[in-house]
Amino acid sequence: MIYKIVSATDTFGSWRNLARDSLRQGLKPSDIVWSLEGATSNDLFASLGEAGDAMAADTRKVPRHFLELARNCVCHSDAERFSILYELLFECVKEPMIFENALHPLVHQIMAMSKSVSRDKHKMKAFVRFKEDLQSDTVRRKFTAWFEPEHHIVEETTAFFVRRFNDMDWCIATPKGSAFFVDSKLTFNPSPAARITADDDTENLWKTYYANIFNPARLKLDAMRSEMPKKYWHNLPEAELIKELVSNAGRRVDEMRNSQPTTPSPFANAARAPAISTHEFSAEHFSSITELNKAAQKCQRCSLHCNATQTVVGEGPANAKLMIVGEQPGDEEDLSGRPFVGPAGKLFDKALKATGVSRDSIYVSNVVKHFKFESRGKRRIHSRPNAGEIQHCKYWLMNEIKLIRPKLILAMGATAAGVLTGSDKNLGERRGQLQYSYEIPAVMITFHPSAILRAVNAENENKMMTHFLSDIGKAVVFATSTSIAQQSPPKLPASAVNPANLNNTSQAG
Ligand code: URA
Repeated sequence: MIYKIVSATDTFGSWRNLARDSLRQGLKPSDIVWSLEGATSNDLFASLGEAGDAMAADTRKVPRHFLELARNCVCHSDAERFSILYELLFECVKEPMIFENALHPLVHQIMAMSKSVSRDKHKMKAFVRFKEDLQSDTVRRKFTAWFEPEHHIVEETTAFFVRRFNDMDWCIATPKGSAFFVDSKLTFNPSPAARITADDDTENLWKTYYANIFNPARLKLDAMRSEMPKKYWHNLPEAELIKELVSNAGRRVDEMRNSQPTTPSPFANAARAPAISTHEFSAEHFSSITELNKAAQKCQRCSLHCNATQTVVGEGPANAKLMIVGEQPGDEEDLSGRPFVGPAGKLFDKALKATGVSRDSIYVSNVVKHFKFESRGKRRIHSRPNAGEIQHCKYWLMNEIKLIRPKLILAMGATAAGVLTGSDKNLGERRGQLQYSYEIPAVMITFHPSAILRAVNAENENKMMTHFLSDIGKAVVFATSTSIAQQSPPKLPASAVNPANLNNTSQAG
């Protein structure tokens, strides 16, 4: 039987050298008795483990993975750890693929040991609590900590503390050896240390700090129990606070909720954009419709831009004679960036076709350029713009009108009619007639296609559609008429105002 004594400092390096020599000597696991220096009275056999010259095994075959596991496992508190490791080493030199088989009893055991050591190292980093030695007269501040690790991890873990607490002297004492960092020099004493019970002001400071950073709203008891096992509690000054902090958590969450400040919406500033006075409409702001559209893309005159995808500007030739204005973009318009492309737009297109009007020849726009909606589940439901939003957006519409200079504007629906005529009187009574305003061209009013889509019954829908087609037809004739003095719209042939023509493409063209 050969006795191998592993050094209590640099344990991994020591075991690795002894194991390598044993392999070279061709020693079988059953030939060796392993022990840790200081943990056995067999020191006098240590010399028996000295390296021999024989090269009985090719140690280059040792997989890197084994060394990583071994580095952890030599720290394990199991007295058999060195022999278990050597057994696995012996096996994996013969069969390097052994690590592929996680169910192999030795591989499984070593992995479990390594995991346990890793966890212990992690706990040491998290749970060491230093207390200041206020009696110390050294230039550097001096701290001590008492910790009870499960495994022999102190030496392996102290590098972490050296990095973190480099500007002070400290000692971490444990029943499994102690680390000392004095004047930037690290030393390790493998002997069990006596428990340190010092109390100091930093401990009270730490407790106050802990109680303050404890967030009752984030309390997760199960995670806390697994992260902070009870066995560590007696060395954690904050542990005595935990019971009370946990039992008061519910009340504190309520208090926090009740004292929440009512913060303004992050878009409040944008929403507080200055009102636009009408005199701005008369100023020459933009030299072209392209310039206006570019500027409108950045519009933050009201809060609607906050939730909309983009500004939906008008579309059509810059010299169009007829301009048609709706209320505001809908869901599909908001996504595509083009006016009247959703369900209302489809009806509008059909009506244009039925009356023989090419959409390419007219300028189509809206009073409000951003989609206003309410979210219901995944759907965005159209919501009517309010007076303030309309007033802010009027700026764009008026500048569009100034640049396009259409002969006639066809206002579809109450919002456009209200903005363009300054009156919200009954639409049904005013539609189809010319309205004049001192600051913009002639306006004609008609129904909004969405109103037709929402008609209560087929009869109503048919009636509204007839008027809609008739109004579009009249508007086109007026807008394209060469007679400047024309005051009343001409009569249209009956075929142009028949909703039945909607599906009759030959008549529409
Ligand atoms: N309704 C409108 O008023 N305008 C559009 O662009 C789409 C639907």
